[in-house]
Amino acid sequence: MKIQHSYQGSSSHRASSRKYHLRCRAADQHDVQTKPSVSQSHVNVISGYDSVVTHELRVKLGQTQREVLRGVNLKIKRGHLHMLLGPNGCGKSTLLKLLGGLIPQYEGTVQLDQPSGFVFQNPDHQVVMPTVAADVAFGLGRYTLKEEVVLSSVTSSLKLVNMQNYMYRATHTLSGGQRQRVAIAGALAENPKLLLLDELTTFLDVEDQFGVLEAVRNITHVKGDVTAIWVTHRFEELEYADSASYMQDGSIVSTGRPERIRSFLRTLGASVPQPSGK
Ligand SMILES: Nc1ncnc2c1ncn2[C@@H]1O[C@H](COP(=O)(O)OP(=O)(O)O)[C@@H](O)[C@H]1O
Ligand SMILES: [Mg+2]
Repeated sequence: MKIQHSYQGSSSHRASSRKYHLRCRAADQHDVQTKPSVSQSHVNVISGYDSVVTHELRVKLGQTQREVLRGVNLKIKRGHLHMLLGPNGCGKSTLLKLLGGLIPQYEGTVQLDQPSGFVFQNPDHQVVMPTVAADVAFGLGRYTLKEEVVLSSVTSSLKLVNMQNYMYRATHTLSGGQRQRVAIAGALAENPKLLLLDELTTFLDVEDQFGVLEAVRNITHVKGDVTAIWVTHRFEELEYADSASYMQDGSIVSTGRPERIRSFLRTLGASVPQPSGK
């Protein structure tokens, strides 16, 4: 097993935030059996313009040690909103967890920008504080920061997801999509270079769905050096992607520009909407 991580700007390792653990535990108790850990023993700067490069990643899970990832080769450009599609059970969440340092045992190599922030499917499991501002600030509680630094970080994170006018709102009054945007802002406050977003729109109506997508696209466009991996099974969301991959049975079978993935999906017989120019 070989791990290489790139640290851009900050050398501080933030993968062990309390809220990060809390979110992981609450959302995915079944799967997350080990504390998120990212080894720093082989820290290397990832070269060039890529944010993620994996080579032949293999993961075996469960008592039967079934091979869930079967040689994943993936390359994602820094600053892209990259969508990961594929049928239920093909290994999307497993791959995302591995990239987030939540699966310590694997074969193959992975190089990626660090730190990463993870947001899961169900907003009810992730937004845990009574007000929006308190929730976004939660993870920063681990650091010794001046109040104005925390406020500035919370404000700028909320602005990126277009929730700046909700700062002092009670979180229980928000829609599902607004809560997802607050969860993303919470991850953003810790200044990640890689956002790992697992089926965030599953429980959302159409308006909320596109609000969250627009927020993520805005983050990658404004920041430039932040990359987002967006797992979805909704083909219409490809419209927001800079690039995408399609997974099947534990490996990536097509990758490239969204148009390429649309063509690939059509060869599988899927009905894929044309982009509407959003
Ligand atoms: N902790 C685990 N132990 C055993 N099998 C698992 C575990 N987690 C996931 N799996 C299995 O691995 C496969 C891929 O799961 P997952 O990555 O969640 O797929 P996806 O996100 O694409 O729906 C599934 O067959 C699932 O049942
Ligand atoms: Mg999944």
